[in-house]
Amino acid sequence: MQKEVPQRGQTVAINRSVVRGVGAYLPKRIVTNAELAKRIDTSDEWIVERTGIKQRHIAGDDELTSDLGIAAAKQALVRAGIDPVEIDLVICATATPDRTFPATAVRIQAGLGISKGAAFDVQAVCSGFVFAMATADNFLKTGQFKRALVIGAETFSRILDWEDRTTCVLFGDGAGAVVLEAQPQLGTREDRGILASQIRSDGRFEELLYVDGGPGSTRTTGHLRMNGREVFRHAVQKISGVIEETLVMTGYAPEEIDLFVPHQANQRILDGIARKLGIPPSRIMMTLDKHGNTSAASIPLALNQAFEERRVKEGSLVLMEAMGGGFTWGAVLLRW
Ligand code: UT7
Repeated sequence: MQKEVPQRGQTVAINRSVVRGVGAYLPKRIVTNAELAKRIDTSDEWIVERTGIKQRHIAGDDELTSDLGIAAAKQALVRAGIDPVEIDLVICATATPDRTFPATAVRIQAGLGISKGAAFDVQAVCSGFVFAMATADNFLKTGQFKRALVIGAETFSRILDWEDRTTCVLFGDGAGAVVLEAQPQLGTREDRGILASQIRSDGRFEELLYVDGGPGSTRTTGHLRMNGREVFRHAVQKISGVIEETLVMTGYAPEEIDLFVPHQANQRILDGIARKLGIPPSRIMMTLDKHGNTSAASIPLALNQAFEERRVKEGSLVLMEAMGGGFTWGAVLLRW
């Protein structure tokens, strides 16, 4: 457990990880539900009704996860007004690395012309961005690094079984990035920056969502396999629980959240969580219809859309959450 955030009245000078910029990149090619219905036994009606997804972006043959990540990172850096060489930590959340090694983050670091500090990947599948934000936050708070690029980048199209209608309709490719900077704050819950985070995992559920390959087992990349109904059953409960634990750390109530930016897996899961916690639907950022589930990229892509639509501004209280293979799950609460 992290230390509780001091309540109103108590002040201590501490470092907070403040968002300086956000960016995203989506491959040009859009694949609609109707296009998928020409290839497999599915329909636009089924996909929209069961998931909320209408289309997804698919990377070109010459586009790698690191290319998507670099494009998103560049936009975030420009918006932050920060030169790449001022970055001393690059964390990339991905389950679809360019190569088994080196880490995609190191390739992104090199692509941006950064050669100082550290770069590494975080592998927590769909929860990757939440895990990466929590990791970066802990490095920035302690003062070990000053400015971090936190990226979620995925090319899930490469690990899908395009004959399996129960999974291939759900996912898409893309990347999003944020620039975090350590800034001294008062240590109250009114501070800017990351106020609280919680991350969890439980490997007993591996068989419900996994990739059936890997360098150490089959020596192949493998394909995503999921028991959707069972994952769904766990999602609402686990996500609601970790959100409640994160909010308790600051004493905020769900209705005080200005914008809820969840991992985009299924509209019905998000409706369930909102109902359970009493979050008004108008405060939920939804990008599922346009991007599908982009795994670790989905939260920063949604954050980017929120920024572009001016749904977040300085002072907004933003809550992010995710759950994915492992299982892994977690939440981050920050003030923009
Ligand atoms: O980001 C990582 C976390 N992942 C998730 O959170 C995903 C969680 N799960 C889900 O989102 C949902 O379970 C799915 C969208 C994957 C599936 O929805 P569901 O309402 O749970 O459907 P189901 O798996 O119970 O399948 C219902 C029916 C089945 O037919 P029968 O057995 O009732 O005859 C499936 O074969 O729908 C059928 N079906 C399809 N039909 C048309 C499954 N996929 C499709 C499809 N098109 N693409």
